[in-house]
Amino acid sequence: DLSPADVAKRAAALRAAEFVEDGMRVGLGTGSTAAFLVRRLGERVRDEGLRLRCVPTSEATARLADEVGIEVVALDEVGWLDLTIDGADEADGELSLIKGGGGALLREKIVACASDRVVIIADGAKDVAALGAFPLPVEVIPFGWQATKRLIEEMLVGLDVGGREVVLRERGGAPFVTDEGNRILDLRLQRIGDARGLALRLNQIPGVVENGLFIDIADTLVLGFEDGRVEVRD
Ligand code: A5P
Repeated sequence: DLSPADVAKRAAALRAAEFVEDGMRVGLGTGSTAAFLVRRLGERVRDEGLRLRCVPTSEATARLADEVGIEVVALDEVGWLDLTIDGADEADGELSLIKGGGGALLREKIVACASDRVVIIADGAKDVAALGAFPLPVEVIPFGWQATKRLIEEMLVGLDVGGREVVLRERGGAPFVTDEGNRILDLRLQRIGDARGLALRLNQIPGVVENGLFIDIADTLVLGFEDGRVEVRD
């Protein structure tokens, strides 16, 4: 009894799982859509004897992969990946993305950029004309995070964006802590005039580790819909 959104996520994940071949080194994404993929790959490992070495993008995905019988390795053990499959929070017509809703954007970006091919799986609702309605996650180190936040706010003043509110992500009344021990600032921009310029500017600010804009990283977008239909875009 999957919800309509889960039917869509699962449809995308099952299609993308077909891109995985025996012997591949595979990056495993994070989030509810990626979880469908990990489970499907676990089935393929069990049923088809597929030999995979997989690098998870989060501790949560590492636990799930282990649970479903997938061999988990460190990125530095394999050095490079054949394919990474991950979710996204938004994807536009150019396959530019906002990621990091689950807080795993740093490892996700490292893993994606160390892959020959990056496939993004998402439900149709993540397909947007322009990025920005989803708050942009920015990973910052804990030291001096309030000063970092102020520098981001000041940088945003000169930019073509729809909103400029910057919010420290919390979970259960305490700051959210990433797998790398950092914090997340969510930038409520509504509209991003120049995503490429913003990504560059953010990463120049001391204290910013990485931002959730993935530009020129995704090769393929697999969209799933509530009726089980799938659309593949490259
Ligand atoms: C994790 O940090 C994100 O980049 C996820 O890929 C994103 O939040 C998608 O999650 P869902 O598949 O749960 O929507």
